Amino acid sequence: MTVVVVTGAASGIGRASALRFARRGATVIVADIDETGGNATVARARLTGGRAEFRRLDVADAAAWEEFAEKVVRDHGVPDVVVNNAGILISGGFLEQSGDDWRRMIAINMMGPLFGSRVFVQRMVDAGKRGAIVNICSVGAFLPTPLGPSYVTAKAGAWMGTQALRAEYAGRGIRVSAICPGLIRTDLSANGTRAGADAGAEADWAAKLARGQQVFGRSPDRVAAAIDRAIRWNLATVPVGIEAWAGWYLSRLSPGVMRGITGLARMPLAETAVNLSGRVLGGAR
Ligand code: NAI
Repeated sequence: MTVVVVTGAASGIGRASALRFARRGATVIVADIDETGGNATVARARLTGGRAEFRRLDVADAAAWEEFAEKVVRDHGVPDVVVNNAGILISGGFLEQSGDDWRRMIAINMMGPLFGSRVFVQRMVDAGKRGAIVNICSVGAFLPTPLGPSYVTAKAGAWMGTQALRAEYAGRGIRVSAICPGLIRTDLSANGTRAGADAGAEADWAAKLARGQQVFGRSPDRVAAAIDRAIRWNLATVPVGIEAWAGWYLSRLSPGVMRGITGLARMPLAETAVNLSGRVLGGAR
């Protein structure tokens, strides 16, 4: 019996991944801070005959991770697969983002996957289990963009931590992979915040960004399939989508050109683009 832990599985990519694992007969631990969404994922998994259960977890909380891992191992044994997926989006320039924005972002998007990797790799090693860790990073890990610097910093850290872990455990049968999606159709923007804006402007921004994400994003099932591929072929980094592949290769080929391109997009320009697309798509004020 395969046991899979997916964090952030109350929504979007995490939900799609949890449902895919459940359809294939795995027991899925749906971990999230959102209990309602998490229970909805569990209900959907069970509808198709899958086995799933919800556990509340704040991935930014190191002590909660230890307790969570203890309980999962006690009830189900050491998991075969852990997908560290939970994440948030904070838009806004470098100085617009407050110290608290930066701390929160690093705690969730970077430390979340690293804590999750630590607690479960330790238990895989102790049990002699040849498991898999999959950390959902982002093409943002390769884009030094002024539009969400804390996001890309956290993703770059999560990606590097994933690669360092992979290097250390390569010979010990534990597969470690990073998935780096481009734009995916989820609630990331709708759930996100906009640093440096008042409440009204923030809500307007989130609504327009979310509408664009729904229209232009690809299905989260694409990321779920990429997770499968990463585990099956033990891949180090898996970009998802054309812009993710382009970002990955360009960042390797010429970091200077990449910086030049990403540097063109400043918040005022992004705001104009988002307002324009909001008007064209007609989904937001
Ligand atoms: P989403 O907003 O639909 O789902 C994120 C989930 O994470 C939610 O269920 C939320 O409750 C949970 N979460 C947030 N903070 C948490 C915390 N402290 N502890 C536990 N759970 C928490 O967004 P999406 O897109 O499904 O995001 C999943 C991952 O994919 C994130 O790490 C995101 O950065 C990454 N990603 C998303 C892309 C996209 O275009 N949607 C592109 C590249 C990466």
